[in-house]
Amino acid sequence: LKGFFNVPEPVNETVLNYGPRSVERAALKAALAEGRAKQIDIPMYIGSKEVRTGTLREIRPPHDHQHVLATYHWGDKTHVTDAIDAALAAKADWENLPWEQRAAIFLKAAELIAGPYRAKINAATMLGQSKNAYQAEIDAACEFIDFLRFNVQYMTEIYQQQPPVSGKGIWNRVEQRPLEGFVFALTPFNFTAIAGNLPASAAMMGNVVVWKPADTQIYAANVIMQIFKEAGVPDGVINLIYADGPVVGDVVFNHPDFAGIHFTGSTGVFQNIWGTIAGNIHKYKTYPRIVGETGGKDFVLAHPSANPDVVAVALLRGAFEYQGQKCSAASRAYIPASLWPAVKEHVTREMATFKMGPTEDFENFINAVISEVSFDKLAKYIDEANADESVELIAGGGHDKTKGWFIEPTVLKVEDPYYVTMCTELFGPVLTVYVYEDKDWDEILTIVDKTSIYALTGAIISQDRYAIAEATYRLRNAAGNFYVNDKPTGAVVGQQPFGGARGSGTNDKAGSMINLLRWVSPRTIKETF
Ligand code: SER
Repeated sequence: LKGFFNVPEPVNETVLNYGPRSVERAALKAALAEGRAKQIDIPMYIGSKEVRTGTLREIRPPHDHQHVLATYHWGDKTHVTDAIDAALAAKADWENLPWEQRAAIFLKAAELIAGPYRAKINAATMLGQSKNAYQAEIDAACEFIDFLRFNVQYMTEIYQQQPPVSGKGIWNRVEQRPLEGFVFALTPFNFTAIAGNLPASAAMMGNVVVWKPADTQIYAANVIMQIFKEAGVPDGVINLIYADGPVVGDVVFNHPDFAGIHFTGSTGVFQNIWGTIAGNIHKYKTYPRIVGETGGKDFVLAHPSANPDVVAVALLRGAFEYQGQKCSAASRAYIPASLWPAVKEHVTREMATFKMGPTEDFENFINAVISEVSFDKLAKYIDEANADESVELIAGGGHDKTKGWFIEPTVLKVEDPYYVTMCTELFGPVLTVYVYEDKDWDEILTIVDKTSIYALTGAIISQDRYAIAEATYRLRNAAGNFYVNDKPTGAVVGQQPFGGARGSGTNDKAGSMINLLRWVSPRTIKETF
């Protein structure tokens, strides 16, 4: 039996570089052209059926809102009920399938993404969510593959963990049972990898899932579902539906078999869901697992000893990659007065070279934000800051929605460390900087912690080991992922388990054993002979 648990050792998928004459760029361009040319029709996937309701909605690229990429079929209450029924009908066979068969399905899914589906899922992420090619590659290909491969490894470790002691004539053992009921996955627009991981991680542990993606994610979700099906996820194990959030919630959270939610999205929505679940607690057969990754207002704190170029790179990459639409994005910075001139010079010089435009042009670094709602919110905050005499516009400030939802990367400098854009999650390419007097280092640590209502990511940039130690200690509850001399973004599965506490979620660390343990309910068995 030795070697039985020997699943392929997970390695992080290599990021391809999409150079101008590379094979991968040619394949991606072909997939983009096909996506543009074909207006596909996307069904819901419930049990063995592709469901077309005839109530059609449109998907348009955020960078080109006059082009219809796809239509999809909008569901109602009955489809939610059908999805739950299909999940529960698939449950017995799925949970009784030996775990290594489940592992094999998700390892195959990883290989399908790495190979035949790579261009397709990246193109879907570029067209549907306006990521550039490199960002799509890191998200939809590499991170998604990593989640699948590493989770299979963690799963085998969970199944192998057994009580260390059995007495004479006694055998103690633990069985990791799937949850009793179905799991609801509610996924965000901003990461294809997260959209795939939330249903997959629960399903991998033997659960059946009802999955509702953000409306702005449906184009890539459709490709994810095709991959799951081709990899061998049986009908009914993962059901993909689209309908109004409150309509879905009303059915899901009133159902006696509701056993857990795997959520990534806004803090407000998650808090409402938590309240609803609490109010319905007497209706359920079991206490539902509530796992959520929510908002962020992530900081970069520079110490006077910092190298200003390291600070500038952390700000530029942390704030503006992915148009700042990352819960981990750097959106507030605290810079000592002695370093500010050098940091400002580097940041503004680099920002002047940013190219903004549609994703299909590989030269563009900055693409559109996800939707009109997002655009309007960001434009409003930028305009209000511009009109405020206490705020200095360091760079950017423009916005244009004629063709797509384009927000110019923007840096604001404020006099008040509690100014609204220092405290509010904007989810876009807007960075607010507060410049502090070098002598106020101690006070700034207090301010950073106080302002961390969210506590997802943060970075300290310093060459002084005592300052690093002090910040690490004093800000220990201000970030679930803390970076020293690096940007606060880009956690890699298998390397930096990701998640935060306070307003940022339940901190169950995506892509880790901690997360997978939430999707099982252990049974201890003692047998005497
Ligand atoms: N995991 C991503 C990061 O670390 C955000 O979702 O940037």
